[in-house]
Amino acid sequence: MKITMIGSGYVGLVTGACFAEWGHQVTCVDKDVHKITRLQQGEIPIYEPGLDVLVATNAERRRLKFTTDLPSAVADADAVFIAVGTPARHNDGDADLTFVYSAAKEVAVAIRGYTVIVTKSTVPVGTGDTVERIVARERPDAEFAVVSNPEFLREGSAIDDFLKPDRVVLGTDDDRAASVMQLIYQVLEETPSRIVVTKRRTAELIKYAANAFLATKITFINEMADLCEAVGADVQDLAVGVGLDHRIGMPFFNAGPGYGGSCFPKDTTALLRTAQDYGVPLRLVEETVGANNARKRRMALKVIEAAGGSIDGLTVAVLGLTFKPDTDDMREAPSIPLIEALQRSGATIRAHDPQGMRHAMSLLSEVAFCGDVYSCCEGADVVVLMTEWETYRHLDFGRLRKAVRVPTLVDLRNIYNRDVAERHGFSLTGIGRAH
Ligand code: UGA
Repeated sequence: MKITMIGSGYVGLVTGACFAEWGHQVTCVDKDVHKITRLQQGEIPIYEPGLDVLVATNAERRRLKFTTDLPSAVADADAVFIAVGTPARHNDGDADLTFVYSAAKEVAVAIRGYTVIVTKSTVPVGTGDTVERIVARERPDAEFAVVSNPEFLREGSAIDDFLKPDRVVLGTDDDRAASVMQLIYQVLEETPSRIVVTKRRTAELIKYAANAFLATKITFINEMADLCEAVGADVQDLAVGVGLDHRIGMPFFNAGPGYGGSCFPKDTTALLRTAQDYGVPLRLVEETVGANNARKRRMALKVIEAAGGSIDGLTVAVLGLTFKPDTDDMREAPSIPLIEALQRSGATIRAHDPQGMRHAMSLLSEVAFCGDVYSCCEGADVVVLMTEWETYRHLDFGRLRKAVRVPTLVDLRNIYNRDVAERHGFSLTGIGRAH
């Protein structure tokens, strides 16, 4: 199949490289000349484990190309995927679809012969209908169908998520488009992955419902963590005891400082907006959004309490800044409100992150960014583990003890063993665990 990706950002690049890996002829398009030039030279503009190798091998096999020339890339494609950004609008937090609509216009002008136009970007319900209208208006003679094919990739494990998905969702009423899409995903027929074909509006809503459910599941375990702290129970064991019921499930049941990233916060807000537009109250999702925002703000109080009630004049070492490990993404990271609140309370902040420091520097001021964990903890009165990067799981506690001024450790991801920490003289505060 000949596939064209419009937008060579995170989703476009991962999807394009994976389709090429499955043997399709893929052309990734972007307006950003600098980005395309770098990609043509084998440089990957984002951090995603395994993506560099996947892009390099498939470029070498001549199955993956990069260009800024949209019309030629679209002309002979069987399917054109729109994978451009849908940032949250500043005024109302709703998804901004300007890029999707302008891509649809450009694609409309360029298509030749029957073409399936696929919306891959996360778009509110009904966007497929608008894209269809735009294309038909622009090119009344065009033979095309618009399909919704939402993505369920997680940053950091996107390639595995793509190549071995639980499910692929295809939203279309057009039989011809459905068979083109089935051919694109044909390799999955031999695997346990399920392909769900449904109406376009349902497919669009599935994406938001999945993210809202996961955000709610995390918020639920976070609230249980608070209750565990109050009653002297342990949330880690509680999550196992509850999650082993396969109707509930263990994954995405880890208590932490609140979810962040570019998807859950944005998509839950966009879903609430849709619900409001249609006059359908989604109280559970509303509560999830509110509880998560409040939780992120509350994490600073936890650190202040661990420091003895005041942080004024003290030094806090923050380990991990990104919203989760294996990404350089700082969007909606809980580390940002935490650091800002601690600074307002008079703390001096030192910080380390394996990938996120470059982005963090543009978002945070007056933070000393350090090259390694131990220099970051030098002279610290409190060490806060914020993001569970693998490297932080194997700290040398002896060395850490020598570096810090006061051995107080706040573990916001429950990765440390209390006995080990205490043996090295640290007092440990976790999430949802009795002292
Ligand atoms: C999320 C979804 O997991 C993907 O399925 C979806 O495709 C993607 O959004 C998207 O809409 O594009 P992502 O935002 O990359 O993926 O990251 P997650 O791994 O879902 O983590 C989100 C946040 O939840 C992080 O801040 C993480 O620390 C937090 N989290 C996750 C927890 O606090 N506890 C958990 O058990 C799991």
